[in-house]
Amino acid sequence: MRNPIYVALDVPTVEKASELVAVLAPVVAGFKVGKELFVSAGPQLVRQIRESGASVFLDLKFHDIPNTVAKSVAAATRLDVQMLTIHTCGGLEMMRAAEAAAQETAGSLHRAAPVVLGVTVLTSMSTPELNQVGVTGDIGHQVERLAMLGNQAGLRGFVCSPLELAMLRQILPEATQLVTPGIRGPGDAAGDQKRTLSAPEAIEAGATWLVIGRPIYAAADPKAAAERILAAIASATTTA
Ligand code: C5P
Repeated sequence: MRNPIYVALDVPTVEKASELVAVLAPVVAGFKVGKELFVSAGPQLVRQIRESGASVFLDLKFHDIPNTVAKSVAAATRLDVQMLTIHTCGGLEMMRAAEAAAQETAGSLHRAAPVVLGVTVLTSMSTPELNQVGVTGDIGHQVERLAMLGNQAGLRGFVCSPLELAMLRQILPEATQLVTPGIRGPGDAAGDQKRTLSAPEAIEAGATWLVIGRPIYAAADPKAAAERILAAIASATTTA
C-alpha cells in the first residue's frame, strides 16, 4: 500500500518540528511546512526533512504576478520539495508560469518536478464573504470553475476539502493528485474542522494524499497515532 500521509508541522518551534520529523519520518510519506514554520525556520528545516528521507509539501500558497510566482516556484524546486501550493485565483497565466518553472527547474536538475497544487476557495470563506470580494455565485461553482482553470493551465494537482473530493474527481483527469486536509478518526477531536472524513473514507472518495495535523502531532504517541491511521487505511483497502 502507498503511504498517503503528510503530517502538518503546525508547531511553533524548529526544535518541536525536528523532534516530530525524527520520530515520524520512518512511518509517513512526508511533512507539510506552512507559512508560520517557514518564516521562522526557513529552508534549513526543509533540507533537514529531505535528509530524513521524507517528502516535503511546502504550503506557502503563492499568489502574485506570474514572474514572481515562477521565480518562487523555481526556488522551491531547487529546495527539492515534492509538492507546493499556489492560488488558482492568481489566473491562468500565473498558473502556467508556475507549472513551467517547476518543470524547467526540475529538468535542469535532472529530478522529478514538484506537483504544483492549486488552492481554489479557502474553506474559511463563506458565500457572503466571496460576494463581498466581488465573486458572485456560490462556493461550489467557484471551486469547480477554478479547478477547471487550473487544469487548463496544466496543474497536476489541487488541495481540496474532503467534501469536494467527489465533485473534483468527476471533472478532473484521473491522474490529477488531490490533497485533502480535514481528516479525523472516530475518536479524534474535530477542533476547528467543520467538515471532516476519516482517512479511509477520504482515500475511498478519491484523495491521493492526506494532510493530517493534530490527530498525529498532538497525540501522546505521534508515531503510534500515524501507524493506527495507516492500519485503518490498509484494512479498508483490503476489505474493499
Ligand atoms: O490539525 P489538522 O489535522 O486540522 O491540520 C490540517 C492542516 O491542513 C492544517 O495545517 C491546516 O492549516 C490545513 N488546511 C486545512 N483546511 C484547508 C486548507 C488547509 O485544514 N482548507
